[in-house]
Amino acid sequence: MIIAVDGPSASGKGTIARALAMALGLPHLDTGLLYRAVGQATLAVGDDPADAASAAAHARQLRLDALDDPALRSDEAARAASMVAAHPCVRDALRDLQVRFARQAGGAVLDGRDIGTVIAPDADLKIFVTANAQTRAERRYAELQARGLPTSLAAVAADIAARDARDSGRGAAPLRMAEDAILLDTTNLSIDAAIQSALALADARRGTRAIVDGALSAADEQPKR
Ligand code: CDP
Repeated sequence: MIIAVDGPSASGKGTIARALAMALGLPHLDTGLLYRAVGQATLAVGDDPADAASAAAHARQLRLDALDDPALRSDEAARAASMVAAHPCVRDALRDLQVRFARQAGGAVLDGRDIGTVIAPDADLKIFVTANAQTRAERRYAELQARGLPTSLAAVAADIAARDARDSGRGAAPLRMAEDAILLDTTNLSIDAAIQSALALADARRGTRAIVDGALSAADEQPKR
């Protein structure tokens, strides 16, 4: 079972994806961390994240142990991530790893911006998680404060608005809801309620899948004429 969870910043997609993976016993990949790690690596050597060739070189050298760095959660890393993520060559360099992760035996949960549209267009379940901009800014502000990262609500709101515009407006794999995705608006939902809704969608999908698999194997067992 492949589950694609997409959506804008601080919509709750990461928390929902982690909870689904835990409940279903599936591996989880937060694909935003890949772009954050590339953005951070670019900044670390003084390169400009707007420089496509340099960002692509960092993407090709990305090591998975770089994803454990807590610095990737900062606003600065997020900003650099959304800049490097606009380069098609960076997205190309990171694609295979994500596609392989999605297709591993048993399935996986991936969250990001283009999972349902580009990385796993054949996913069994696609959820597009969203919330209004004010709610998302308040959530991200609380999260950054809890991590001890100094910022202000106004700065976080401006940052999220700029990233929303860049992520939705770029030519390469822009943020958009896949046609067959289910919209989950978490604006007025507690995180527990949002997780319960996502779990109900996964359960319903698993039920349908079991029926389809059963019908296919029954059809296989029919004597062929
Ligand atoms: O946690 P948050 O939603 O704020 O950000 P994230 O998921 O860590 O992603 C950081 C940035 O990486 C986003 O603003 C996107 O520009 C980019 N990204 C992307 O382009 N495609 C993905 N599949 C995941 C992230």
